[in-house]
Amino acid sequence: VPEVLAGTEETTTGVIRLRAMEKDGALRFPIVAVNDADTKHMFDNRYGTGQSTLDGVIRATNVLLAGSRIVVAGYGYCGKGVASRARGMGAQVYVTEINPLRALEAVMDGFRVLTMEEAAREGDIFITVTGNRDVLRKEHFAAMKDGAILANSGHFDIEIDLQALAEMTGGERQREVRPFVQEYLVPEGAGGKRVLVIAEGRLVNLGAAEGHPAAVMDMSFANQALSAEWVVRNGSSLEPKVYNVPAEIDREIARLKLDTMNVEIDRLTPAQEEYLSSWTVGT
Ligand SMILES: NC(=O)c1ccc[n+]([C@@H]2O[C@H](COP(=O)([O-])OP(=O)(O)OC[C@H]3O[C@@H](n4cnc5c(N)ncnc54)[C@H](O)[C@@H]3O)[C@@H](O)[C@H]2O)c1
Repeated sequence: VPEVLAGTEETTTGVIRLRAMEKDGALRFPIVAVNDADTKHMFDNRYGTGQSTLDGVIRATNVLLAGSRIVVAGYGYCGKGVASRARGMGAQVYVTEINPLRALEAVMDGFRVLTMEEAAREGDIFITVTGNRDVLRKEHFAAMKDGAILANSGHFDIEIDLQALAEMTGGERQREVRPFVQEYLVPEGAGGKRVLVIAEGRLVNLGAAEGHPAAVMDMSFANQALSAEWVVRNGSSLEPKVYNVPAEIDREIARLKLDTMNVEIDRLTPAQEEYLSSWTVGT
């Protein structure tokens, strides 16, 4: 630790943990919260996870999304990406949340928001993207339809309580029906159905597909590289806290990305610049 200048953190869950460490005085060196940069979470989490998660589900199962009922648990950046892309593929999309603001956003984005208890009965495909544990658990498995497909694209293999599912199936009644797809046979007494779990409940986009395309990870890794440079330049003045990626780095990455896409944008005229920063006109 004494030799570590600083760290940079890529993921939502990692940043949450590191902020908790800072609060408890357990953080020993400065961290830059790469995940929280706009050019990271608004793009990698939303468009990257949105596409690669569905890619994982499709590759593993070859399920037809059009007309299917997809339940997305969590309407953060990842959830928004998954939900909007699933809708684009013709699925009926349901959203579950625990945060009223995010739930309201999902309602006004046109999704049906409901509890997991209700959604469990209706869904054909369930995708968790919450960063939380036990989002799908025993009572939900008991309510699901025969052939329900479960996938996680949030964090670790605890979003789906697989231990409870294994206990319901008596441990033995499992088989791999396709590569990366495990079928759990829930006996009659516990609901009598097949439940299909993709990629052992681990991140479906990494386990059953190829992760995000490079064309979106480039922005995340540009944040990593430029934050590392910023840390080296400013390291001696930093404390063991979680720092945001400086706004000028975020803006520069957006500018560079637009450049690579041959997209030009307008520039403020001097009069516009003055108007936007004044209080004496237009008030
Ligand atoms: N698969 C990938 O490649 C990939 C990429 C980026 C992030 N992630 C991970 O995905 C997870 C979500 O990331 P994010 O950026 O969308 O985070 P976020 O914090 O923006 O969103 C998570 C949402 O889940 C909700 N939530 C929490 N518990 C819930 C529950 N029990 N039921 C329903 N909703 C619940 C929260 O209210 C929040 O709105 C994190 O663990 C992150 O590390 C995965």
